[in-house]
Amino acid sequence: MVSNRSLLGCVFLIIPLITTASSSVASLGRATQETHNGEGIVEAYMMARDTVQDLIDQGRSPDPNGDEMELLSYWRDQLNKSSQISAQNLRTILEGDPGVGNTDPETRRSVAKRTIERNLSKRWTGGIVPFIYTSDTNAEHQREIKRAMEHYQRFSCIRFVPWENTTGTTTNQKLGLDHPGYLKFVVRNGCWSHQGNFRWSDGQELSCCSGGSCVHELGHALGVLHEQQSPNPDRNRFIRINPQYITDNEYQWYEQKLPGNFISYGYDISSPMHYSTTFYRKGPGKTFTHLFPELKEGGNFYYHVREVSIEHKCQDQCKGFPVTCENDGYLTKVDGNCRCRCIPGLDPDTGCKTIYKHDFSGLKFPGGQYALPAHTDGCPNGSFKLGSRKHFNNGGNDRSAKFAVKTDVTANMVEESFCVSNTSNNRITWPEGNYCIYRVGGACPEGFFSEGSVKYDDQPTGSNRNSHTGELPDGIYGEDTKYQYCCKNTGFNDDILFFPSRKPFVLIKRRDERCQNVQGMHLEVNTLTVGNLVNKNNSETDAAIEGDHPIDKIIGTSEAYSMKYCVYKPAMMNCGDVFELDSSKKEVTFSSPDDVELECFWLVKAPKGQRVALDFTEFDISGFPGMCKDDLIVHYSRPGQLGKRYCGRIFDKTIVSIYNTILIRLSTYSGYRSRFSARVRLIQDEDLCYKRADRGHLTKPMLSNPGATRKRSSVKETTVTCVL
Ligand SMILES: *[C@@H]1O[C@H](CO)[C@@H](O)[C@H](O)[C@H]1NC(C)=O
Ligand SMILES: *[C@@H]1O[C@H](CO)[C@@H](O)[C@H](O)[C@H]1NC(C)=O
Ligand SMILES: *[C@@H]1O[C@H](CO)[C@@H](O)[C@H](O)[C@H]1NC(C)=O
Ligand SMILES: *[C@@H]1O[C@H](CO)[C@@H](O)[C@H](O)[C@H]1NC(C)=O
Ligand SMILES: *[C@@H]1O[C@H](CO)[C@@H](O)[C@H](O)[C@H]1NC(C)=O
Ligand SMILES: *[C@@H]1O[C@H](CO)[C@@H](O)[C@H](O)[C@H]1NC(C)=O
Ligand SMILES: [Zn+2]
Repeated sequence: MVSNRSLLGCVFLIIPLITTASSSVASLGRATQETHNGEGIVEAYMMARDTVQDLIDQGRSPDPNGDEMELLSYWRDQLNKSSQISAQNLRTILEGDPGVGNTDPETRRSVAKRTIERNLSKRWTGGIVPFIYTSDTNAEHQREIKRAMEHYQRFSCIRFVPWENTTGTTTNQKLGLDHPGYLKFVVRNGCWSHQGNFRWSDGQELSCCSGGSCVHELGHALGVLHEQQSPNPDRNRFIRINPQYITDNEYQWYEQKLPGNFISYGYDISSPMHYSTTFYRKGPGKTFTHLFPELKEGGNFYYHVREVSIEHKCQDQCKGFPVTCENDGYLTKVDGNCRCRCIPGLDPDTGCKTIYKHDFSGLKFPGGQYALPAHTDGCPNGSFKLGSRKHFNNGGNDRSAKFAVKTDVTANMVEESFCVSNTSNNRITWPEGNYCIYRVGGACPEGFFSEGSVKYDDQPTGSNRNSHTGELPDGIYGEDTKYQYCCKNTGFNDDILFFPSRKPFVLIKRRDERCQNVQGMHLEVNTLTVGNLVNKNNSETDAAIEGDHPIDKIIGTSEAYSMKYCVYKPAMMNCGDVFELDSSKKEVTFSSPDDVELECFWLVKAPKGQRVALDFTEFDISGFPGMCKDDLIVHYSRPGQLGKRYCGRIFDKTIVSIYNTILIRLSTYSGYRSRFSARVRLIQDEDLCYKRADRGHLTKPMLSNPGATRKRSSVKETTVTCVL
């Protein structure tokens, strides 16, 4: 049935699920026709073209007899001569070539930079994706699928809705969609998906696996290609494919697509759609070489979701929004509300144009009925009421050295405090993520909370009577103590949460997950252990944990229960700046503030096509390389990608941007006043310390053509000491 339908067989990061059936199915698809069609020549041609295009983008017209144009023309001829490229493919490749007559700058640009399928019929109308779980999927599979779906839903207008046809009318018909398509989640032969919406009324199958792999497969279903196959010429600035180390017959997944059928908003080495160097690996080598090996592949969803959002026209669902979103930000639904989603450190309220120095407007704790553990500084602003529970046992209590949860702990007594919300719901929903709160009012808040409970077997004696004051979470407060929890496990630990950040607060850590970060706050994980009386004979009074409870460790024979809290404290974020360099301002110097608990960002921008060089004139960041206590992170590739971390006493090299921005983040946690002074300046490609085309990493040119080598060596070498 699927033989005429094109499938993307897939494996993803960490989870080495090499598919068997899916790859053989995939090999029946369109991709094989293009296999080995002169890849090296296409790459070299693209690089040459990119160099010329950059000159044009900078407003310089390339000399028709200059090196750049000559190199481009050389590679164009090689393409033309190649017997492996059909006349039609050649036309597609050459479309928009700045040396072949086409002078319309729009065409030149749009064609050169095109990874999502261009065909609009492959999109999901309105971002709505109907789906069903087939009987292959169990609760665990569905949880993993849900987690991946929630990531798209938090940061775009993509909405996964259950598909039904119970009354003879399908969900698509009820929602007025212009297509009958939907996803059918199966569990079969590894992880794979069709690319885009095929509009089949009997649905299209998808085998999602888990974690980032499932994000990857949903990415295919949403129309997105493998990033390493991107036609974007920038791909060749970051990676070199090593065909000799790729499994036979799987080279197709590394082959660069031709520009024309796909749209790309920039090459993203960190995309979940990017393979790692071990997928379909054969032999001792890597399937591709990083030219910037310090920039890890995969693991960062920002640009991927941005691309999905833009291509599904999420911005159109926020028409009339008062600001435009800049600096790689995008207008979309963030946690359900129209808002700019910005790269880290920029302010959505100003359209990502300034540094984020205060919570964005309208940020509040959800209303409704629930409770949080109280912080020693009290409850968050809002209608929280304090309560506490004191209970006695016969030992085993303990807490971590760092402990800021409002809880008294002695050898035989624990007194926990709560911030209880008991309001009618004000419709602010809980962000999807991995955390727990206390249940209040008999039911968990709306969303995907699952319930659990912890019962402590107390031993009040004599004058040590259990007691309580104020408002309490749901539970039992007699001779023993039982708390009811609501837990969510619908996020990725690396996703940031948004909560009011100017007062400390506490979430309960979900077991088996890490605490997530909250924007504008610093995280500390605290541990509390509470002992239990061991009395195996009486199930009525025995300690017990049930359902989705937060206990992550049961300690020793005393059966003490240990749990962790995610404690958030406000970071100092009234700092940082945005600098724009240009010909009238070629250099700027600045310093970090003299303060602690910093969370500061500096964004330095150069005109398109130019670069930024960063030098530190003073550098003292707590820790030493490999064991940083404080973090100075420099994002010198695209600013929404992960940066590189630096610390120590000395830093005497220059960092040069790959594109035209550098984003610097300083996060300090220790009492030590880590600080730096920096000088940023505008530089041109000519000032680089490596050859732009191959970054100087290749010991021999990818193509051992004398012509190419001669041209390449004409690139000026300079003496800047680079470090990246
Ligand atoms: C390709 O080669 C043919 C024959 O040599 C020539 O007519 C044509 O103009 C060439 N095309 C390009 C784009 O150089
Ligand atoms: C777009 O995709 C649809 C469905 O696969 C196909 O019928 C149509 O011909 C495609 N359009 C173009 C322009 O390729
Ligand atoms: C929906 O159900 C109706 C009535 O049972 C049936 O005629 C129709 O084919 C179904 N549609 C789809 C797409 O399955
Ligand atoms: C919470 O509010 C409801 C009504 O709004 C009330 O009946 C209930 O007693 C309140 N619970 C607490 C713990 O205050
Ligand atoms: C809390 O609310 C009070 C009164 O509304 C206000 O004065 C104070 O600034 C708020 N504090 C924070 C940290 O938001
Ligand atoms: C539990 O029951 C067993 C036998 O039924 C008895 O020997 C033991 O003493 C009991 N222990 C406690 C703590 O009640
Ligand atoms: Zn894939």
